[in-house]
Amino acid sequence: MPTLTFVNEGQEIFVSRGNNLRQEALDNSISIYKLKGKLMNCGGYGQCGTCVIEVVEGMSNLSPRTEVEDRKLQRKPDSYRLACQTLVQGNASIKTKP
Ligand code: FES
Repeated sequence: MPTLTFVNEGQEIFVSRGNNLRQEALDNSISIYKLKGKLMNCGGYGQCGTCVIEVVEGMSNLSPRTEVEDRKLQRKPDSYRLACQTLVQGNASIKTKP
């Protein structure tokens, strides 16, 4: 079972392979949103861009970037992802709210 390490929070969670990163974080009470995103986010449909995270390690263990991410993150580093568009396939380390 893959492990996600949330660096800022010092928390590790076990995730079933193929599960959605945003949903897993929320289910484990890990806050991925800054204030604006907390108040209004798109609910995981790739529209708001507020669920951005930084992948510190293990990018190859996550699903490939989607077209939505390519659009929303075009001026961001390659290590940035939208949590709601990311499926977990293996171990990874994540920084929330980069
Ligand atoms: S929750 Fe809106 S883009 Fe991810």
